[in-house]
This record gives sequence, C-alpha cells and structure tokens, in this order.
Amino acid sequence: MSLFRTTLTVSAVLLLTLTGCNKAENTDLIKEKPNDAASLTVAAPSTKGALGLEVYKSPTCGCCKGWVDHMSNAGFSVNAHDMGDLQPVKRSQGIQRDTQSCHTAVSPEGFVFEGHVPAKFVKRFLAEKPVGARGLAVPAMPVGTPGMEMDNKFMPYQILLLKTDGSTQVYAMVANAEQQY
Ligand code: CU
Ligand code: CU
Repeated sequence: MSLFRTTLTVSAVLLLTLTGCNKAENTDLIKEKPNDAASLTVAAPSTKGALGLEVYKSPTCGCCKGWVDHMSNAGFSVNAHDMGDLQPVKRSQGIQRDTQSCHTAVSPEGFVFEGHVPAKFVKRFLAEKPVGARGLAVPAMPVGTPGMEMDNKFMPYQILLLKTDGSTQVYAMVANAEQQY
C-alpha cells in the first residue's frame, strides 16, 4: 500500500513537471520547423564517429528544444521527432516511470539518453561505453539543467546509469551549473 502511494506521488510530481514543460514556451512552436529537410539530410546516424542522436520529444515542449540546441552546439547531429505521445518510445526503450523525463534520445548504437543529460556526460558515456550499461537518465526535469535554465536557479541532481538488467546506479552527481560544461 505504501509502495503504491509512493509510486503515485512520484508520478504526480513527474506529471506536474512535464505539464510545466508543455506550458513553458508555447511561443517556440512558431519558431520550430518539425519537418526541416536540412536536418534530415544532415543526420547521418550510421556514420562511424559521428555524434548522431535521434530525439523523440513533444512538439510543444520548450525545454526539449533547449536541450536539442545544447546538444547541437556541443557537436551532436540531432534528428528530432515530434510526437504527441512519447510513452510508446519510452516503453520500447525500457525507460521506467521513475526515471522518465520529457524527451528520449537514442544513439546510432542504440544507447539511450533520457531527459536533460548534459552533452559532456553523454560524450563521456559514449567514450567509455560502460559494461552492462545501456544509457543515462536525468529523471524529471531539474531546474538549471541544459534546456531548463531559469535565471541562475540550480537544483543539484544525479545522472543515473541505466543498466541492461533494468537497475540503475548513480553515474555522476552534478552539484552546480559549472559542472555541466
Ligand atoms: Cu524537459
Ligand atoms: Cu525535453
């Protein structure tokens, strides 16, 4: 019973933050080009050495766009897919409820990066390719993460290592904004 309640609470918090994301920047819709032909040709997911990423995100989420920009600026070639319902993607990628965030990114090798993981840690993960790991996650949407900047506010957070057996462990602790870059 208490476990059920905990799950409910976590889901409620996540839902709240995700809703907040949707409301955050509706104005970005106008600027966005979901079917940008250029981005389709630029993305070369199968090229060895290229930092390609397929990103599945909500069309109305301003912070997702912010994270995509952050990754592009860090040298990733991002192919963004706007979707109304992201749950099928998260389910197929095995992202459990308590590790979910807004967007889901997948590398050409099939590694998954959930939420506002800084580019620096995605690069480190891809260089290390830790044994028994399938990706990284920053659950929910901590304020101050790349794409979630709000003035100078910053909420310390953990980057979780997603393991192939379904468990997680702490990959990195991010104590301040500077550690993200
Ligand atoms: Cu977000
Ligand atoms: Cu997002």
